[in-house]
Amino acid sequence: MKLLEEKIILEGNVLSDSVLKVDRFLNHQIDPELMLSIGKEFAERFKNDQITKILTLESSGIAPAVMTGLILQTPVLFARKKKSLTMVDDLYHSEVYSFTKQEKTEVSVSKKLLNTNDRVLLIDDFLANGQAALALIDIVNQAEASLVGLGIVIEKTFQNGGDQLRKNGIRVESLAQILSLENGRVHFVHEEVK
Ligand code: G4P
Ligand code: NA
Ligand code: NA
Repeated sequence: MKLLEEKIILEGNVLSDSVLKVDRFLNHQIDPELMLSIGKEFAERFKNDQITKILTLESSGIAPAVMTGLILQTPVLFARKKKSLTMVDDLYHSEVYSFTKQEKTEVSVSKKLLNTNDRVLLIDDFLANGQAALALIDIVNQAEASLVGLGIVIEKTFQNGGDQLRKNGIRVESLAQILSLENGRVHFVHEEVK
């Protein structure tokens, strides 16, 4: 997605060979117009898939997920990392393992809000090692819902999450694919094939 790539070049900061900071439009401050364009793009790619629910993970997945749900006219459900006072229903739980932090976070979704009739589109801001995606897939499976695919805003193809998911037959649609962040520069995948 050209608009997103331009934004990454203009406003993203390469923090290291593996981390891109995008807190001017996605991870801290949010650009609503860009998010709407992102939502329209995901909606276009999944418009024929009879999505009934979008599932994401708080916090940074919520903005792109909501915009996608707005266009597809589906509810948007986010897995919570902390239990809320009002989460008194039965919950699905899964664990997200972070390689960088070397710790596990439990994520939860109410059983009332996801069920076997749902056709689910997962949305997230980043795809790195794929641990967050695996936890969301686990929750979809626990609910015996149908997983339609994943919509990712920024995929880092030099980490193996995307490869692993695709090898398992999961449809992954990424709006920007980053091949490398070496030498402080962002290289997108399509620069290589052109
Ligand atoms: P890891 O296995 O390499 O540790 O990464 P993991 O996929 O577990 O992601 C940990 C958090 O870091 C996630 O956010 C993920 O979206 C984010 N992340 C991964 N790679 C990058 C990157 O290159 N740049 C940025 N900005 N974020 C990245 P989270 O902890 O769930 O936080 P949030 O959703 O509340 O923002
Ligand atoms: Na994040
Ligand atoms: Na995230």
